Amino acid sequence: TRPHIAVLGSTNMDLVAYVAKAPQRGETVTGREFRTLPGGKGANQAVAAARAGATVAMIGAVGNDAFGTQLRSALDHSGVDTDLLRTVEGPSGTAHIVVDDDGGNAIVVIPGANATLTALSAGDRAEIASAAALLLQLEVPLEGVLAAARTAREHGVRTILTPAPAQPLPPELLAATDLLLPNEHEAAALTGITDPAAAARALLSQVPEVVVTLGAAGSLYAARGAEPVTVPARRVTAVDTTGAGDTFAGALAVALCKGNSVPDALSWASAASALSVQRTGAATSMPYRAEIDAEAGASA
Ligand code: RIB
Ligand code: NA
Repeated sequence: TRPHIAVLGSTNMDLVAYVAKAPQRGETVTGREFRTLPGGKGANQAVAAARAGATVAMIGAVGNDAFGTQLRSALDHSGVDTDLLRTVEGPSGTAHIVVDDDGGNAIVVIPGANATLTALSAGDRAEIASAAALLLQLEVPLEGVLAAARTAREHGVRTILTPAPAQPLPPELLAATDLLLPNEHEAAALTGITDPAAAARALLSQVPEVVVTLGAAGSLYAARGAEPVTVPARRVTAVDTTGAGDTFAGALAVALCKGNSVPDALSWASAASALSVQRTGAATSMPYRAEIDAEAGASA
Protein backbone atom coordinates (compact mmCIF):
# COMPACT_ATOMS: atom_id res chain seq x y z
CA THR A 1 0.00 0.00 0.00
CA ARG A 2 1.07 3.55 -0.64
CA PRO A 3 1.84 5.62 2.45
CA HIS A 4 0.14 9.01 2.64
CA ILE A 5 2.45 12.03 3.03
CA ALA A 6 1.60 15.70 3.57
CA VAL A 7 4.01 18.42 2.49
CA LEU A 8 3.82 22.04 3.59
CA GLY A 9 6.19 24.35 1.78
CA SER A 10 7.18 26.40 -1.20
CA THR A 11 6.35 26.18 -4.87
CA ASN A 12 8.70 28.14 -7.17
CA MET A 13 9.28 28.52 -10.86
CA ASP A 14 12.98 27.81 -11.35
CA LEU A 15 14.55 30.17 -13.89
CA VAL A 16 17.72 28.31 -14.70
CA ALA A 17 20.79 29.53 -16.59
CA TYR A 18 23.24 26.79 -17.60
CA VAL A 19 26.78 28.14 -17.87
CA ALA A 20 30.32 26.73 -17.89
CA LYS A 21 31.37 28.76 -14.86
CA ALA A 22 29.18 31.01 -12.70
CA PRO A 23 30.00 34.75 -12.97
CA GLN A 24 31.81 36.58 -10.17
CA ARG A 25 30.47 39.89 -8.85
CA GLY A 26 30.68 42.57 -11.57
CA GLU A 27 31.33 39.98 -14.27
CA THR A 28 29.13 39.11 -17.25
CA VAL A 29 29.38 35.69 -18.84
CA THR A 30 27.55 34.09 -21.75
CA GLY A 31 25.66 30.95 -20.80
CA ARG A 32 24.54 28.02 -22.89
CA GLU A 33 20.86 27.61 -22.22
CA PHE A 34 17.87 28.96 -20.26
CA ARG A 35 15.01 26.85 -18.91
CA THR A 36 11.95 27.45 -16.79
CA LEU A 37 11.34 24.37 -14.64
CA PRO A 38 8.97 23.67 -11.72
CA GLY A 39 10.71 23.78 -8.36
CA GLY A 40 10.53 25.04 -4.81
CA LYS A 41 11.67 22.85 -1.95
CA GLY A 42 8.12 21.99 -0.87
CA ALA A 43 6.81 21.09 -4.30
CA ASN A 44 10.04 19.21 -5.06
CA GLN A 45 9.68 17.05 -1.95
CA ALA A 46 6.03 16.42 -2.84
CA VAL A 47 6.93 15.24 -6.36
CA ALA A 48 9.84 13.15 -5.04
CA ALA A 49 7.56 11.38 -2.54
CA ALA A 50 4.81 10.84 -5.12
CA ARG A 51 7.23 9.36 -7.65
CA ALA A 52 8.79 7.22 -4.92
CA GLY A 53 5.40 5.67 -4.28
CA ALA A 54 3.38 7.75 -1.79
CA THR A 55 0.05 9.51 -2.17
CA VAL A 56 0.90 13.14 -1.48
CA ALA A 57 -0.99 16.32 -0.63
CA MET A 58 0.73 19.69 -1.08
CA ILE A 59 -0.09 22.60 1.25
CA GLY A 60 1.27 25.82 -0.23
CA ALA A 61 0.55 28.88 -2.35
CA VAL A 62 1.12 30.03 -5.91
CA GLY A 63 0.44 33.46 -7.41
CA ASN A 64 -2.35 34.36 -9.84
CA ASP A 65 0.18 34.66 -12.68
CA ALA A 66 1.11 32.35 -15.56
CA PHE A 67 3.78 30.63 -13.44
CA GLY A 68 1.12 29.82 -10.84
CA THR A 69 -1.01 28.03 -13.41
CA GLN A 70 2.00 26.11 -14.73
CA LEU A 71 3.22 25.15 -11.26
CA ARG A 72 -0.19 23.86 -10.23
CA SER A 73 -0.56 21.76 -13.36
CA ALA A 74 2.98 20.37 -13.00
CA LEU A 75 2.03 19.13 -9.53
CA ASP A 76 -1.28 17.74 -10.80
CA HIS A 77 0.56 15.87 -13.55
CA SER A 78 2.92 14.36 -10.98
CA GLY A 79 -0.11 13.00 -9.15
CA VAL A 80 0.23 15.38 -6.20
CA ASP A 81 -3.09 16.47 -4.65
CA THR A 82 -3.28 20.28 -5.01
CA ASP A 83 -6.64 20.88 -3.29
CA LEU A 84 -4.81 22.70 -0.47
CA LEU A 85 -2.53 24.71 -2.79
CA ARG A 86 -3.92 28.24 -2.65
CA THR A 87 -3.82 30.71 -5.53
CA VAL A 88 -3.20 34.17 -4.09
CA GLU A 89 -3.05 37.69 -5.52
CA GLY A 90 0.44 38.58 -6.81
CA PRO A 91 3.45 36.77 -8.28
CA SER A 92 4.41 33.13 -7.73
CA GLY A 93 7.70 32.33 -6.03
CA THR A 94 10.69 32.26 -8.34
CA ALA A 95 14.17 30.82 -7.96
CA HIS A 96 16.95 32.36 -10.04
CA ILE A 97 19.46 29.58 -10.52
CA VAL A 98 22.88 29.38 -12.14
CA VAL A 99 24.03 25.80 -12.83
CA ASP A 100 27.68 25.34 -13.80
CA ASP A 101 29.49 22.56 -15.66
CA ASP A 102 30.24 20.74 -12.41
CA GLY A 103 26.50 20.45 -11.80
CA GLY A 104 26.77 22.82 -8.83
CA ASN A 105 24.44 25.78 -8.41
CA ALA A 106 23.87 29.20 -6.84
CA ILE A 107 20.27 30.27 -6.13
CA VAL A 108 18.36 33.45 -5.28
CA VAL A 109 14.78 32.76 -4.17
CA ILE A 110 12.08 35.46 -4.32
CA PRO A 111 9.25 34.10 -2.13
CA GLY A 112 6.24 35.79 -3.80
CA ALA A 113 3.09 33.82 -2.96
CA ASN A 114 5.03 31.51 -0.62
CA ALA A 115 5.27 34.41 1.87
CA THR A 116 1.49 34.26 2.46
CA LEU A 117 1.64 30.81 4.06
CA THR A 118 1.54 32.05 7.67
CA ALA A 119 -1.44 30.10 9.02
CA LEU A 120 -3.25 26.79 8.52
CA SER A 121 -6.84 26.26 7.42
CA ALA A 122 -9.06 23.61 8.99
CA GLY A 123 -8.51 21.59 5.81
CA ASP A 124 -4.72 21.83 6.19
CA ARG A 125 -4.93 20.57 9.76
CA ALA A 126 -7.18 17.67 8.80
CA GLU A 127 -4.79 16.75 5.99
CA ILE A 128 -1.76 16.77 8.28
CA ALA A 129 -3.62 14.76 10.91
CA SER A 130 -4.41 12.03 8.36
CA ALA A 131 -0.84 11.65 7.05
CA ALA A 132 1.80 9.07 7.95
CA ALA A 133 4.46 11.78 7.71
CA LEU A 134 4.73 15.55 7.26
CA LEU A 135 7.57 17.06 5.23
CA LEU A 136 8.66 20.61 6.02
CA GLN A 137 11.36 23.01 4.76
CA LEU A 138 12.01 26.72 5.35
CA GLU A 139 11.01 28.56 2.15
CA VAL A 140 7.66 29.56 3.68
CA PRO A 141 7.20 31.66 6.85
CA LEU A 142 8.25 30.05 10.13
CA GLU A 143 4.77 30.67 11.61
CA GLY A 144 3.25 28.37 8.99
CA VAL A 145 5.97 25.74 9.44
CA LEU A 146 5.59 25.82 13.22
CA ALA A 147 1.78 25.56 13.07
CA ALA A 148 2.11 22.51 10.80
CA ALA A 149 4.71 20.83 13.01
CA ARG A 150 2.55 21.38 16.10
CA THR A 151 -0.50 19.94 14.37
CA ALA A 152 1.51 16.88 13.35
CA ARG A 153 2.81 16.42 16.88
CA GLU A 154 -0.75 16.63 18.33
CA HIS A 155 -1.79 13.78 16.06
CA GLY A 156 1.34 11.66 16.38
CA VAL A 157 2.40 12.29 12.77
CA ARG A 158 6.14 11.93 12.09
CA THR A 159 7.64 15.31 11.06
CA ILE A 160 10.74 15.50 8.86
CA LEU A 161 12.20 19.01 8.65
CA THR A 162 14.75 20.09 6.04
CA PRO A 163 16.19 23.29 7.59
CA ALA A 164 16.84 25.01 4.25
CA PRO A 165 17.55 27.75 3.47
CA ALA A 166 19.66 27.79 6.66
CA GLN A 167 18.37 30.13 9.34
CA PRO A 168 18.16 30.17 13.13
CA LEU A 169 15.34 27.88 14.28
CA PRO A 170 12.96 28.60 17.15
CA PRO A 171 13.38 25.92 19.84
CA GLU A 172 9.61 25.23 19.62
CA LEU A 173 10.05 24.10 16.03
CA LEU A 174 12.86 21.68 16.84
CA ALA A 175 10.83 20.43 19.79
CA ALA A 176 7.99 19.49 17.41
CA THR A 177 10.34 17.82 14.88
CA ASP A 178 10.99 14.07 14.82
CA LEU A 179 13.75 13.93 12.22
CA LEU A 180 15.93 16.89 11.24
CA LEU A 181 17.46 16.59 7.75
CA PRO A 182 20.12 19.28 7.20
CA ASN A 183 22.92 19.15 4.66
CA GLU A 184 26.42 19.59 6.06
CA HIS A 185 26.33 23.40 5.60
CA GLU A 186 22.97 23.73 7.34
CA ALA A 187 24.14 21.46 10.17
CA ALA A 188 27.17 23.73 10.63
CA ALA A 189 25.05 26.89 10.46
CA LEU A 190 22.65 25.55 13.10
CA THR A 191 25.36 24.48 15.54
CA GLY A 192 28.52 26.43 14.72
CA ILE A 193 30.23 23.02 14.45
CA THR A 194 31.81 22.10 11.10
CA ASP A 195 32.30 18.37 11.71
CA PRO A 196 28.98 16.79 10.59
CA ALA A 197 29.06 13.95 13.16
CA ALA A 198 29.75 16.38 16.00
CA ALA A 199 27.09 18.78 14.70
CA ALA A 200 24.57 15.93 14.52
CA ARG A 201 25.41 14.91 18.09
CA ALA A 202 24.88 18.49 19.26
CA LEU A 203 21.50 18.65 17.50
CA LEU A 204 20.37 15.52 19.35
CA SER A 205 19.87 17.66 22.44
CA GLN A 206 16.93 19.23 20.57
CA VAL A 207 15.61 16.51 18.21
CA PRO A 208 15.54 12.72 18.62
CA GLU A 209 16.88 11.86 15.15
CA VAL A 210 19.20 13.68 12.73
CA VAL A 211 20.27 12.81 9.20
CA VAL A 212 23.00 15.01 7.72
CA THR A 213 23.30 14.75 3.94
CA LEU A 214 26.92 14.99 2.79
CA GLY A 215 26.57 15.27 -0.99
CA ALA A 216 28.99 12.91 -2.73
CA ALA A 217 30.07 11.60 0.70
CA GLY A 218 26.63 10.12 1.43
CA SER A 219 24.67 10.68 4.61
CA LEU A 220 25.08 10.34 8.34
CA TYR A 221 22.39 9.22 10.78
CA ALA A 222 22.45 9.99 14.47
CA ALA A 223 19.87 9.13 17.12
CA ARG A 224 19.83 9.46 20.88
CA GLY A 225 21.55 6.58 22.60
CA ALA A 226 22.90 4.96 19.42
CA GLU A 227 26.17 4.99 17.47
CA PRO A 228 26.03 7.24 14.35
CA VAL A 229 25.74 5.38 11.04
CA THR A 230 27.27 6.63 7.76
CA VAL A 231 25.74 5.47 4.48
CA PRO A 232 27.93 6.09 1.41
CA ALA A 233 26.61 7.73 -1.75
CA ARG A 234 26.82 6.18 -5.20
CA ARG A 235 29.58 7.46 -7.48
CA VAL A 236 27.93 9.29 -10.34
CA THR A 237 28.73 12.21 -12.63
CA ALA A 238 26.45 15.11 -11.66
CA VAL A 239 25.01 17.37 -14.34
CA ASP A 240 22.56 19.27 -12.10
CA THR A 241 22.33 18.81 -8.34
CA THR A 242 19.36 21.19 -7.97
CA GLY A 243 16.72 19.44 -5.86
CA ALA A 244 18.96 16.50 -4.92
CA GLY A 245 18.30 17.11 -1.23
CA ASP A 246 14.56 17.32 -1.88
CA THR A 247 14.66 14.05 -3.82
CA PHE A 248 16.46 12.47 -0.87
CA ALA A 249 13.86 13.83 1.60
CA GLY A 250 10.86 12.59 -0.39
CA ALA A 251 12.30 9.13 -0.97
CA LEU A 252 13.50 8.83 2.63
CA ALA A 253 10.01 9.66 3.92
CA VAL A 254 8.45 6.98 1.72
CA ALA A 255 10.96 4.32 2.76
CA LEU A 256 10.56 5.14 6.46
CA CYS A 257 6.75 5.16 6.23
CA LYS A 258 6.93 1.72 4.67
CA GLY A 259 8.74 0.48 7.75
CA ASN A 260 12.29 0.16 6.40
CA SER A 261 15.19 0.44 8.84
CA VAL A 262 16.95 3.81 8.79
CA PRO A 263 20.13 2.51 7.06
CA ASP A 264 18.00 0.80 4.37
CA ALA A 265 15.88 3.92 3.95
CA LEU A 266 19.02 6.09 3.65
CA SER A 267 20.50 3.80 1.06
CA TRP A 268 17.28 3.81 -0.98
CA ALA A 269 17.01 7.63 -0.72
CA SER A 270 20.62 7.94 -1.76
CA ALA A 271 19.90 5.87 -4.90
CA ALA A 272 17.03 8.28 -5.66
CA SER A 273 19.18 11.39 -5.34
CA ALA A 274 22.01 9.78 -7.35
CA LEU A 275 19.56 9.30 -10.21
CA SER A 276 18.28 12.89 -9.92
CA VAL A 277 21.70 14.57 -10.14
CA GLN A 278 22.37 12.88 -13.48
CA ARG A 279 19.45 14.74 -15.10
CA THR A 280 18.70 18.45 -15.42
CA GLY A 281 16.14 20.27 -13.30
CA ALA A 282 14.73 19.64 -9.84
CA ALA A 283 11.29 18.00 -10.00
CA THR A 284 11.81 17.00 -13.64
CA SER A 285 14.86 14.94 -12.67
CA MET A 286 13.25 12.88 -9.92
CA PRO A 287 13.10 9.09 -10.34
CA TYR A 288 10.09 6.77 -10.05
CA ARG A 289 9.95 3.90 -7.59
CA ALA A 290 10.92 1.20 -10.10
CA GLU A 291 14.03 3.13 -11.14
CA ILE A 292 15.02 3.64 -7.51
CA ASP A 293 14.55 -0.07 -6.77
CA ALA A 294 16.75 -0.95 -9.75
CA GLU A 295 19.46 1.54 -8.76
CA ALA A 296 19.34 0.56 -5.09
CA GLY A 297 19.25 -3.17 -5.83
CA ALA A 298 16.41 -3.43 -3.30
CA SER A 299 12.86 -2.24 -3.02
CA ALA A 300 11.69 0.02 -0.22
O1 RIB B 1 16.00 22.70 -3.27
C1 RIB B 1 15.97 23.11 -4.60
C2 RIB B 1 15.01 24.23 -4.80
O2 RIB B 1 15.46 25.35 -4.09
C3 RIB B 1 14.86 24.71 -6.23
O3 RIB B 1 13.88 24.00 -6.96
C4 RIB B 1 14.53 26.16 -6.07
O4 RIB B 1 13.18 26.46 -6.29
C5 RIB B 1 14.95 26.51 -4.65
O5 RIB B 1 13.87 26.86 -3.92
NA1 NA C 1 18.77 17.16 -11.10
